[in-house]
Amino acid sequence: MEKTLNIGLVGYKFMGKAHSNAYARLGMFFNTSAKVRMKALCGRDPEWLAQAAQKFGWEGYETSWENLVIRNDIDVVDITTPSNFHKEIAIAAAENGKHVFCEKPLALTLKDARDMQACAAKNGVKNQIGFNYRFAPAIQLAKNMIDGGKLGKIFHFRGTYLQDWIIDPEFPLVWRLDKKVAGSGSHGDLGAHLIDMAHYLVGDLSRVIGISKTFVTERPLVERMTGLSGKAQADAPRGAVEVDDATLFLGEFKSGGLCSIEATRFASGHKNAMSFEVNGSKGSIKFEFERMNELQYFNAEDEAGTQGFRLIQASEGIHPYVSAWWPAGHVLGYEHTFVHEMYEFVEAIAQDKPTCPDFSDGVKCSRVLEAVELSITERQWVEVDSL
Ligand SMILES: NC(=O)c1ccc[n+]([C@@H]2O[C@H](COP(=O)([O-])OP(=O)(O)OC[C@H]3O[C@@H](n4cnc5c(N)ncnc54)[C@H](O)[C@@H]3O)[C@@H](O)[C@H]2O)c1
Repeated sequence: MEKTLNIGLVGYKFMGKAHSNAYARLGMFFNTSAKVRMKALCGRDPEWLAQAAQKFGWEGYETSWENLVIRNDIDVVDITTPSNFHKEIAIAAAENGKHVFCEKPLALTLKDARDMQACAAKNGVKNQIGFNYRFAPAIQLAKNMIDGGKLGKIFHFRGTYLQDWIIDPEFPLVWRLDKKVAGSGSHGDLGAHLIDMAHYLVGDLSRVIGISKTFVTERPLVERMTGLSGKAQADAPRGAVEVDDATLFLGEFKSGGLCSIEATRFASGHKNAMSFEVNGSKGSIKFEFERMNELQYFNAEDEAGTQGFRLIQASEGIHPYVSAWWPAGHVLGYEHTFVHEMYEFVEAIAQDKPTCPDFSDGVKCSRVLEAVELSITERQWVEVDSL
């Protein structure tokens, strides 16, 4: 008989909606080994929650995550709250035998991330972290090319993640700018994705050194916390901004290559410009998220005179996940990356296979995040394995 996985999702705003959409699309486009039931959506405000549950297609809702994690009819707890709640919910869910999906960054600190990983391992539950960019077909292609030796020995990973949504000093102190809630600013939010990409494509980092800046050190406070938007009253009191607006760092891979990563929310004109290059002895690849169906590839072995970057459209059925969607060239978007990550998560649970990326990848990312922060405080290189 076909297995059923009952999902309980905590949070219903940005990521809550993206994950809800993923669960809703899964059975329509993919042949999964288990049927997914969108059992309960969880939040705190019953009125908003009821509306969201109905709109997104959930069977019911829960106003307390403490109740959600002990329900016998829930198999999976998916966490899309701000980062300060990840640990408590993930640990309670794992201790109650639920499989856990958690958004990135895994936790506010490396210690908390390690506690989450240990708890999931102790309880034998599947766990996955939301590094969704891995699941763009062009990124899968990049991974296959690098693993297949097409770029040769890797010299550089050069990543930038540029946004501009908080340049206005009157933009309020939303939760992403509150250290107690977010842990860090651009570093843990945007930099985390690039750190994971560098790990995924090139390998582990051995040492790092960084620099960071908070350009606007005080902002108006808001009564109701929001994620990426918000308006403060004109006479609202101000609070200190304790997170970074921009963090840049250099690193060295254990394999000997060099890494540079820049994450900023102060790059005028850039909305969600996550991009990177990987340069190797046999060639290079370039990726820009805002053109996520494309991968640029330079092959140093091409004939002299006609060499150059070629544009690969990773939107044909030959590329991972694409055949589940539309005919060749009918391009995919941001939301598809979440469907793909949920597909892998559901398959791993249903077939009792390892999940990837799992909490250990989250810990690895948190270790680099913290090593960079330490290097900034101490103004010196930090060995990642020392943490
Ligand atoms: N993978 C990605 O690309 C990506 C993108 C954005 C955010 N994120 C991560 O996802 C997480 C959430 O970010 P977001 O942008 O969706 O935030 P958001 O502010 O849009 O939504 C947060 C949700 O959590 C709910 N919530 C907060 N505290 C709660 C509690 N105690 N109990 C139940 N519900 C609670 C809120 O009601 C809201 O529905 C963060 O960790 C963030 O870093 C990941």
